[in-house]
Order: sequence, then structure tokens, then C-alpha cells
Amino acid sequence: MSLAIISPGRDPQVWIEALTFHQPDINIQVYPNIDRPEEVEMALLWQHPPGYLSTFPNLKLISSLGAGVDHILSDSAVPESMPIVRIVDEKLTWSMTNYVIMGVLNFHRQITRYQADQKHKVWDMSNPEIPVKVGVMGVGALGGDVLDKLSYMGFSVFGFGFTEKDDFPHPYFSKNHLQDFLNEINVLVCLLPLTPDTENILNLSFFRKCKPGTYLINVARGKHLVEEDLIPALESGFLSGALLDVYRTEPLPGDHSFWEEGKIQITPHIASVTNPLAASPQIIENFRRLKANQPLLNLVNRQKGY
Ligand code: GLV
Repeated sequence: MSLAIISPGRDPQVWIEALTFHQPDINIQVYPNIDRPEEVEMALLWQHPPGYLSTFPNLKLISSLGAGVDHILSDSAVPESMPIVRIVDEKLTWSMTNYVIMGVLNFHRQITRYQADQKHKVWDMSNPEIPVKVGVMGVGALGGDVLDKLSYMGFSVFGFGFTEKDDFPHPYFSKNHLQDFLNEINVLVCLLPLTPDTENILNLSFFRKCKPGTYLINVARGKHLVEEDLIPALESGFLSGALLDVYRTEPLPGDHSFWEEGKIQITPHIASVTNPLAASPQIIENFRRLKANQPLLNLVNRQKGY
């Protein structure tokens, strides 16, 4: 029984080291050098070649190497009945929350404005704090932690999601109350899973519903944003700026308009990168549970898509 790592373009060595650190006798095969496909019962995937999983006749479990599973669900060759698990990890959550807090504070305390002022030797003490109310779309493990920590820091926070929720610890709006949610906030954080319901959700007609000057932070997936709508939304004043970590094409192409837009800040999909040493124990535990026929950790709901 072996485990396959299939993450083309990424160095698998860190995962091999982390998994063997936690379980020295683990049997790992690594793409593209998988010479005993019939032994593979669990596959660890990040951007695998679509259709490739059909080479494993005895595959029983798929694990994403990150929090998202959209890269797995978009492969129609993945059987409906195949269980998929994802990474839910304190370190991953911590990094994501810190990144979002950085974005919120940069907007609130206007660090880019002061950087520009410094360049031009400008001393401008006016309006040092922009009042901020933060809305988080997607209130799972990551979004929930962002809401908790920002609320603890004293910010007003609001959650938005596609399902109804009772007893949510923060003000919460479900999908039929999008306008009410947007009326409350002036910083919008996208942490939604990418599903057919959420793809392209950040588009011009959505931005038109925002309070003028809303600041956008997208740390979910590039496909949530209709990219050609962002600069028009900034020019129209629906949005005042954006911090983006994800793009429809990654790496962001050199001729993409986002590079040159002063109101857009870009980071290269680093908001929260899975730490192999931190995430390996849950992968090994799921491998053990698979063999023992026990309930899996962090199982994805195939109907919901996350
Ligand atoms: C990163 O994008 C992840 O899904 O973990």
C-alpha cells in the first residue's frame, strides 16, 4: 500500500521529508516516477494532470495538499464516489489570518499613502485612520478565524455565506441578504471556496452594490474575480483599492494590467502556503484511518464542493 505525491512544478522533497519525519516507514511514490501504480491507495494532489488518476486501479482516497479542492473537483475523471480530504491546519489558518489582518491594517492605517508621502517628503497629518468595517465572504475554518481575530482587535466584523447559520458568533448574512451585508462594510475579504455558485462572483454588478470606496482583499481563488471588471470598478469609485493574492492565471502574466495599477497591491499566492511539517500528521492519520476503515478527517462534502 503506498501513497503518491502528484504536484507537478512543485518540489516534492519537502513533503517526502515531512511525511517520513512523522512516519519513517511510509511508502511514498512521487510523480512522474510512479512505477508501481497498482500499489497506490492514497494520492496527495496539487494541480495534478487532469485524467491522470485513472492510472491508479486501487486508489481509495485523495487528499489535497492545501485547503482548497477546486483543482481536484474540476477534473471530471475523479469518480463521484471517491472520498476527498483537504488540509485544515492551525498554521495554515494562522498565516491566512495574519495576511488578511495585514491587508485590513494597511488600509485602515494607510501605509501605502505614507510610503508615497515619504518619497515626496510630504508631512500630512490629516485623516490618519480610515474607519473600517470588515466583511468576510466564506466563514469556514479560515474565514471564521479572520472574523474572530479582527473582532478581538476591536473591528466590527460581518460574515457572509451561502448557507443559513444559527448561532454564528458574529453578525452573519446568507446569500439572499448580500446587499444588506455589503451595506454594512467597507472592507471586503473573499475567502469563499471556488464552486459553480461562487465562480465570477466578484464582478462589476457586484462591485456596484458595494459602498463607494470599498477595499477588496481576495485571498481565495483567481476565478472568483472577473479580472477585466476590477480596474473599471476602481475607476468608477465603487472600490478604492484591492489587495490580491490569487489570479486566474498564475504566475500573473508579465503583460497583465494589474502589475501597473497603483490601486492594486499584488502578492504571488503566498497568503497561506501549506507547511508540510505541520500538515503531514493529518495526512498520515487519514492514511491510517483509510487502512483501518475509520471516519476520515476534513472530508470534503462533494455536493457543496468544499
Ligand atoms: C492554497 O491556495 C490552498 O488552497 O491551500
